Amino acid sequence: MRIPLLCLLVRSFILLCFVEIVLSGFTSSFIRSEWPSTDIPLDSPEFSTPEGYNAPQQVHITQGDYDGKAVIVSWVNMIEPGSSEVLYGKLKNQYNLSAQGTHTNYTFYKYRSGYIHHCLLSGLEHNTKYYYKIGTGNSAREFWFETPPEVDADASYTFGIIGDLGQTYNSLSTLEHYMKTGGQTVLFVGDLSYADRYHDNDGNRWDSWGRLVERSVAYQPWIWSAGNHEIEYKPHLGEFSTFRAYIHRYATPHVASKSNSPLWYAVRRASAHIIVLSSYSPFVKYTPQWLWLREELKQVDREKTPWLIVLMHAPLYNSNGVHYMEGESMRAAFERWLVHYKVDMVFAGHVHAYERSYRVSNINYNITSGNRYPVPDKSAPVYITVGDGGNQEGLASRFLEPQPEYSAFREASYGHSVLELKNRTHAFYNWIRNDDGKSVPTDHVVFHNQYWASNTRRRLKKKQPNRQINLIATY
Ligand SMILES: *[C@@H]1O[C@H](CO)[C@@H](O)[C@H](O)[C@H]1NC(C)=O
Ligand SMILES: *[C@@H]1O[C@H](CO)[C@@H](O)[C@H](O)[C@H]1NC(C)=O
Ligand SMILES: *[C@@H]1O[C@H](CO)[C@@H](O)[C@H](O)[C@H]1NC(C)=O
Ligand SMILES: *[C@@H]1O[C@H](CO)[C@@H](O)[C@H](O)[C@H]1NC(C)=O
Ligand SMILES: [Fe+2]
Repeated sequence: MRIPLLCLLVRSFILLCFVEIVLSGFTSSFIRSEWPSTDIPLDSPEFSTPEGYNAPQQVHITQGDYDGKAVIVSWVNMIEPGSSEVLYGKLKNQYNLSAQGTHTNYTFYKYRSGYIHHCLLSGLEHNTKYYYKIGTGNSAREFWFETPPEVDADASYTFGIIGDLGQTYNSLSTLEHYMKTGGQTVLFVGDLSYADRYHDNDGNRWDSWGRLVERSVAYQPWIWSAGNHEIEYKPHLGEFSTFRAYIHRYATPHVASKSNSPLWYAVRRASAHIIVLSSYSPFVKYTPQWLWLREELKQVDREKTPWLIVLMHAPLYNSNGVHYMEGESMRAAFERWLVHYKVDMVFAGHVHAYERSYRVSNINYNITSGNRYPVPDKSAPVYITVGDGGNQEGLASRFLEPQPEYSAFREASYGHSVLELKNRTHAFYNWIRNDDGKSVPTDHVVFHNQYWASNTRRRLKKKQPNRQINLIATY
């Protein structure tokens, strides 16, 4: 009787060791596309235009400075330029402050844009609700937003992560699920409207997308990064410029972080330092983006902003058959820095599926020798692909087999992620899948901060064991 019991104990012990030591990934068999991958028709109520002559539409806000005391309010007037003024204040209906913005417009082949307004509200107080009003007379519209807490190591804050959103009913489902999570700011990882999928890059699909997402982005900032669908380089239409619609429509606070391009920049928000990179702008050594990133990483102060987060469009680690190795050139350029500066997580989009890596790096390889395979690396970021917003191109359901050792979890369903920064040491993270109209938390991770939780001298409390608890992964 005693021998089988002993065997069982030994076997469970071995099994436990196996779970602790071996990096084993998980590929979910759950694949769900709820609605067809076609865009919502232009005349649908989801895209309805506000009442009133020349009423401001496509209202959106983003952070307007480095530390969260400014907001850029943007909108489009379709018929005539109208006013660029924003009235705002801390009390509803009492807008005793005002700011004057500017407007711009552009053409793309046969499309003529409306009048796109951008107005900077600066000198705001932290942790404060502001009401704002744009437009005049019967066409005026009112919204509100909340400023983040002051930049501080223990400031808790909740980010949503959305990518490759598009404008299908799947996109709307993702958006509606996100809006129920309590997320305070969206980190958007590129590919917004997919207007470039239309004949002559129909700019009306930029306008409809602006109206679709207004329900969230008029009330909380979305931190923008550009994807390949923003490039819109169409020489056969005589359109030789790049990112024309995106740059006219979506302002970013790049000057505040000393960037010379709206396509790469950084912001600090609560306890996070967020670095936005452009996968489709030059980034090799000596280019402006490379020089800028080298300086920006030196500015990061983990005593103030423990959470270092990097956004880009093309993932550096991706084991999906789609867009395979498209992030390799940027990985070669920047991975060494990401490891050196102990970046907590890198969020990307592009691949229309979800994937999360272990902490791995592949920086020892050089073209004459060295390790050619990603290896576990405690200083490395976790790479997360959230390109599953739900656009018209559909899901990328063919993962490469076998699942590489660096890949922890992957599933080809639509959804979004939520990252709750609790304090300087802990963050709770969830990937939430769209599941028959429900939102289902599917990949739950507890993140220990790479600066505060990895160095025992800096930690306030004793290190917690890095055990797996009820399938909740911890890093
Ligand atoms: C606006 O109102 C707030 C209180 O609601 C007050 O503190 C502030 O001084 C006022 N500003 C101006 C410019 O009147
Ligand atoms: C912008 O709008 C003005 C006034 O309607 C128009 O004259 C001008 O051609 C437009 N510019 C572009 C680039 O479309
Ligand atoms: C290439 O990698 C090998 C092994 O890590 C190392 O010994 C060598 O110094 C590296 N060569 C260069 C030029 O960095
Ligand atoms: C940080 O947050 C985690 C998770 O909520 C909590 O367990 C921990 O005690 C907090 N640490 C401090 C120092 O408050
Ligand atoms: Fe993409």
